Amino acid sequence: MNAGVIGIGRYVPEKVLTNADLEKMVDTSDEWIRTRTGIEERRIAGDDMNTSDLSYEAAKAAIKDAGISAEEIDMILVATVTPDQPFPSVATMLQERLGAKRAAAMDLSAACAGFMYGMITAKQFIENNAYKHILVIGVEKLSKITDWNDRNTAVLFGDGAGAVVMGPVSEGRGILSFELGADGSGGKHLFQDDSYIYMNGREVFKFAVRQMGESSINVIEKAGLKKEDVDFLIPHQANIRIMEASRQRLELPEEKMSKTVNKYGNTSAASIPISLVEELEAGKIKDDDVLVMVGFGGGLTWGAIALRWGR
Ligand code: UT7
Repeated sequence: MNAGVIGIGRYVPEKVLTNADLEKMVDTSDEWIRTRTGIEERRIAGDDMNTSDLSYEAAKAAIKDAGISAEEIDMILVATVTPDQPFPSVATMLQERLGAKRAAAMDLSAACAGFMYGMITAKQFIENNAYKHILVIGVEKLSKITDWNDRNTAVLFGDGAGAVVMGPVSEGRGILSFELGADGSGGKHLFQDDSYIYMNGREVFKFAVRQMGESSINVIEKAGLKKEDVDFLIPHQANIRIMEASRQRLELPEEKMSKTVNKYGNTSAASIPISLVEELEAGKIKDDDVLVMVGFGGGLTWGAIALRWGR
């Protein structure tokens, strides 16, 4: 029995912060941001909306889409590096708010690869028959750990949430293969100090280009597939240049790669599930399509999944 996605939801805050707005805050330009990152605008959550609130909206939508009730959820996994507080976890806050009375709940920390770690963890519980329905959320309120005076990072990040309900799906569909990895020696290149995100952009860039390409190829091979079998690529939306490198490695045409970085910036753990929902809504992913999802982030961490879409 394969674990797959049976419901999807996303939420992004209404407030838009454009490159023009950032030009007034730090020494940067719309031209620099667009050409170096592909970002045109991002969403920012207000003071009244924390990570659990963003999660709640995406989770509600995913549960509704799955056609189940909150009581049928066995586990909640929230991938985030910006929880409301160190504990209790965002997952337990949601458990109460959603009324998911039977669900176990925990947060997991794998930065921008967090949603991949979450889906792959959920797969194990489902496929060994321990649990049937697992709610996996990728969510960040990065605006609260962004130094708005640092042009190296302020232009990159945004807030948002994406959620999936995972469960058993029909034969041949669901997660076909995965890869997870970590290299703690690279932790110094991307971390949160007392308050803010620090990043050595060039080092992270080099790592990302290499790892995204390699992991994508690895999951295709592990699934017994070839590059030409891939219908759609959903890379972590960090920077269009990094994303393009993975697309070229898979020899996919432009229209077969998700691109939401222009609208939302880098939303870390939320970027892959937000993109998944948007591409489905745009009709770009159909039943039985083979998807590759791939992420990388602070840790350093990475994760990839090959999945045949459909319930
Ligand atoms: O989710 C995972 C997290 N992070 C990432 O994926 C980030 C990976 N790295 C990147 O995306 C890119 O490295 C950046 C977009 C962060 C930077 O692009 P880059 O092409 O690697 O630029 P750079 O760091 O080599 O900087 C080039 C120049 C520098 O000026 P000098 O030293 O050449 O005079 C920077 O000071 O651009 C300058 N610069 C800026 N200029 C205008 C850096 N940030 C800005 C800015 N506006 N916002």
